[in-house]
Amino acid sequence: MVNQIKISPSILSADFSCLGKEIEYIDKAGADYIHVDVMDGHFVPNLTIGPEVIKDIRKSTNKVFDVHLMIEPVNPLLESFAEAGSDIITFHPEAENKPEKTIDIIRGLGCKAGLSLNPSTPISVLDGLIDKLDLILVMTVVPGFGGQSFMEDQLVKIESIRTMIDLSGKKIDLEVDGGINFNTAPKAIAAGADVLVAGTATFKGGPSEYSENIKRLRGF
Ligand code: DX5
Ligand code: ZN
Repeated sequence: MVNQIKISPSILSADFSCLGKEIEYIDKAGADYIHVDVMDGHFVPNLTIGPEVIKDIRKSTNKVFDVHLMIEPVNPLLESFAEAGSDIITFHPEAENKPEKTIDIIRGLGCKAGLSLNPSTPISVLDGLIDKLDLILVMTVVPGFGGQSFMEDQLVKIESIRTMIDLSGKKIDLEVDGGINFNTAPKAIAAGADVLVAGTATFKGGPSEYSENIKRLRGF
């Protein structure tokens, strides 16, 4: 069963010269989560921000910090990301040998744990892990950059994971990330997603548009 749709704006598309203000704007505009893309220039070919920045922008909102780690390795930095104020920490299974151990560390630090599936990652990676997860993130672009096109062939994966979550009876967010806009959001929702990450589509048009953008992405 799909819950109410949540919008998690990716701050990758914000104006970094006034990041704190941008976060205040999207908070007021109705964002549910704040999606923070952490890239290391190694696991993905782009470099963004780390725990120090997260700690500072944490002061700008009380909303859930949905931290998407695109880094390898993951475990050595988890404590820093938790202490910086992350609420949900999501990682890619390819970045650690024992994903179950990484999930345990994240939970032990008092955060919720998410696992992210690249377009090429099979859903079998979830075998034996689903009971330990708070969030499953389906990438609908190859991670690394904002502004890419939504990969429609991932919709069937979203549908399959929705079925798995419902069968598990657990409260697990099914989040979709990459190329979400006013046209693709309804497709992701119809496939069973209940959290939509949106960078380009949220921040388009500047602060005066954020509220309308978020409403339209959510579908009302
Ligand atoms: C891609 C990131 C996404 C991305 C979303 O590697 O994980 O969060 O920035 O950006 P849009 O919504 O512009 O596709
Ligand atoms: Zn992301």
